[in-house]
This record gives sequence, structure tokens and C-alpha cells, in this order.
Amino acid sequence: MKNVPILAGVAGWPVTYSLSPVIHSTWAHRANINGYYIPIAIEPTEDDFRAVIAGLRKVGFAGINVTKPHKENALRIADDASGTAKSAGAANMLTFREDHIYADNSDVVGFANAVKDHTDQPGDHGVILGAGGAARGVILALKELGIQKITITNRTREKAEALAAEFGLAVVDWDKRSEVLDGADLLVNTTSLGMTGQPPLEIDLSPLKSKSVIADIVYSPLETPLLRAAKNHHTIDGLAMLMHQAVPGFEQWFRGNAKVDEDLKNILLKEIKRRETT
Ligand code: ATR
Repeated sequence: MKNVPILAGVAGWPVTYSLSPVIHSTWAHRANINGYYIPIAIEPTEDDFRAVIAGLRKVGFAGINVTKPHKENALRIADDASGTAKSAGAANMLTFREDHIYADNSDVVGFANAVKDHTDQPGDHGVILGAGGAARGVILALKELGIQKITITNRTREKAEALAAEFGLAVVDWDKRSEVLDGADLLVNTTSLGMTGQPPLEIDLSPLKSKSVIADIVYSPLETPLLRAAKNHHTIDGLAMLMHQAVPGFEQWFRGNAKVDEDLKNILLKEIKRRETT
């Protein structure tokens, strides 16, 4: 139909902090697309989620991104899902097709592409801190990047062991998180440590090689204490993954070109600053 705007959005609780509307609006504007991408607050129960999704489909949404705490709900309510979403046990994308809902997970390709922006050769050994939902996506991304050995460490060791058994990883004690960096090519923080309002991540980075890459998926603040301490290494901040994970949704729903570049990053940095001061 002509002149009918394309509708999409991001669902979470809370959701007002999300930068995804800024990313999609920027791409829509660049491509001169008649579309809107909005934040959608859905209370944290599966029933609420189902009810709102039914409404969004009824009013003609093309699809939505899904963030905390609904990523598992999104996978559960979908009629069909990609292999990646099934392996991750979570979906951050729902596409509303004529007769069914399709779930996908672009966090995996988002993180893999953020690493690829830095290096074509991510190395053989990756270390992941944390064993929550975000860690699952990062594990799959490191596998997709061809990283042979993945070591996981988590405050609650049993959670790391469960992921290790599922994905074939090595586990070390949380207390050994610095020692295990000896010889590692890539370090990824998936814990909430370093996030605004949380304690900083305490870790000694000196065992790392100088060409090792350090990634933090936290993006509030953008420069976490970990990334500040990693000044002598290549670093990947939380915005890189955020921008890259948005690409598949934009391409599918708005059917336009979605480019991750410095210009987009600067727009997001400006928005972060604006929010800090208002
Ligand atoms: P997400 O979906 O973002 O991964 P999550 O599932 O709540 O969020 O996981 C949070 C991660 O941060 C977990 O690995 C958690 O460790 P536990 O499994 O021991 O809870 C980690 N984390 C949170 N606070 C922490 C702290 N103070 N010290 C160490 N790890 C912490």
C-alpha cells in the first residue's frame, strides 16, 4: 500500500534508555524511508508480552526488537525460530509474517561483526567473563568467528559449568580471572560489573598480550573502568555491538541500507550526552 508508514520498535522493561530508536530513525532518515521505530514498554510477564505482541500485529507492525527481560519470552511465543535464536535460548528480533511470528537473534552476528571491524584474525583463545543471557550470545559469536578455545569464568561457578557443558568450553574460578588472561587473544566482559550504579570490574590485564582485543558489552557508561584500563590494547565498546545488532532488523522491516559508521556512532554519542544533561 502506498504512503502507509512502516512500523517497528523495541520492546523491553524498562525501555526508555534504549538507543535503538535513534539508530533506526537515523537509517530511515538517510534512506528516505517512510517509517517509525518506537520504544514499547511491556511489563515483565509473558502474558503482558503476548497481549502487546497481538496488538502490535493487529496494527500492522512489521516486527520488533526485544530487550530485557523479554528475550526468552520472545523465543517462547514465536511460531518458528532461527537456529541461532534456538541455540542462544533467546531472541532479540520478532518478525511478524502474514500467518506466523519468526524469532531471530542478531546479538550473535552483532558481536561477531563488532569484532570483525577490529580484526580479521581474532586468534585462538577467547575468555568470557559472566555466564548470563548475554554470555550465551557471545559464546556463539566467538564460535562463529572460529575461535578454537573459549574459557568462561563466572562468580557463580555452576552457571559457567552449565554453559561449558552445553557449548564445550573450559571453566576457571572467578578468582583466577586474571591468570587465565595469559596468552588470551580476546577478553569479553558480559557481566554487569562496570555499568553505571554497579561496582567496577576488578581484573589485572597485565597477563594479556599487547595485541589482544578487549570488549565490553556494557554501554552505560561507554568507557567502562575495564576499557579505561585497557588503553594499551584494541578495545570494543558496547555501542559497537549495539549498532551491529540493529542491522538485520532494519534491513528486514524497513528494507533499506543499514550502515554502521562513525557518523552513526557520533549521533549516538551526542544522544547519550543529551540524555545525561536533561
Ligand atoms: P545478562 O542477560 O545481561 O547476561 P544476567 O543473566 O543477569 O544478565 O547475568 C549477569 C552476569 O553478571 C552474571 O554472570 C552475574 O554473575 P552470577 O551468575 O554470579 O550472578 C554477573 N554479575 C553480576 N553482578 C556481579 C558481581 N557483583 N560480581 C561478579 N559478577 C557479577
